[in-house]
Amino acid sequence: MGEQMTRQVLDQLPAEILSKGRWGNADLVSCRFHGKTWAIKDFALCPSLVKKTWGRWMVRREYKAFIRLMGIAGIPPDPFLLDAYAVGYRFIPGKTLREARAEELPDDFFYRLEDVVTRMHERRIVHLDLRNRRNILISENGVPVLLDFQSCMDLTRIPRVFHRLLRDIDLSGVYKNWIKLRPDLMDEARLAHLARMNRRRSLWVFKGYPMGTKGKRRG
Ligand SMILES: Nc1ncnc2c1ncn2[C@@H]1O[C@H](COP(=O)(O)OP(=O)(O)OP(=O)(O)O)[C@@H](O)[C@H]1O
Ligand SMILES: [Mg+2]
Repeated sequence: MGEQMTRQVLDQLPAEILSKGRWGNADLVSCRFHGKTWAIKDFALCPSLVKKTWGRWMVRREYKAFIRLMGIAGIPPDPFLLDAYAVGYRFIPGKTLREARAEELPDDFFYRLEDVVTRMHERRIVHLDLRNRRNILISENGVPVLLDFQSCMDLTRIPRVFHRLLRDIDLSGVYKNWIKLRPDLMDEARLAHLARMNRRRSLWVFKGYPMGTKGKRRG
């Protein structure tokens, strides 16, 4: 399947651009291969130094997270490494929360999203960029899917004293989107959690992207 794809094969396939990269950011493309649609995150077009350091590191980090999370509903399946600069996984038809309208979200959407995040935490991964609505997809079937594990951390490598804070950062990302899109379904306990986390936000060192990788997209 995906792991049989090589860069030479990818170069021959008709591909659709999902997201254009910036100087320190990958290009995202989708393509059909062996009867399935794949998303490929590719740093090959970044400047050579960026690609060989940051790009390699990001690809490895995201691939390892996808492998750890394999089998959880709500995580794109079948991850593979195209090469050192690109990681692939299954394309999930749908739209991101940034594009979705509140009326399109089923009543159980945010409960399910919270559940996917909890399953992810049970596998000792924190995402850390869930405030970004481009990183959460509503699939065609109306279920949540998490994207973009570039900023994730492996809790097995982090001192236990930080685990609760890191998990709470993810949950506050879920609740921030929840209150924005479906405030009618938000309860006091979750609201209080979000307010508590917002007060602590100015202290966060774990903010996803380092400064600068979010510059102008490639033309
Ligand atoms: N598996 C997938 N299925 C469907 N769409 C996807 C998938 N992976 C990524 N996308 C689309 O590509 C976009 C960018 O993906 P991702 O967030 O992983 O890359 P990125 O380099 O972090 O981009 P950005 O900086 O815009 O967040 C997503 O917002 C989504 O629209
Ligand atoms: Mg993203």
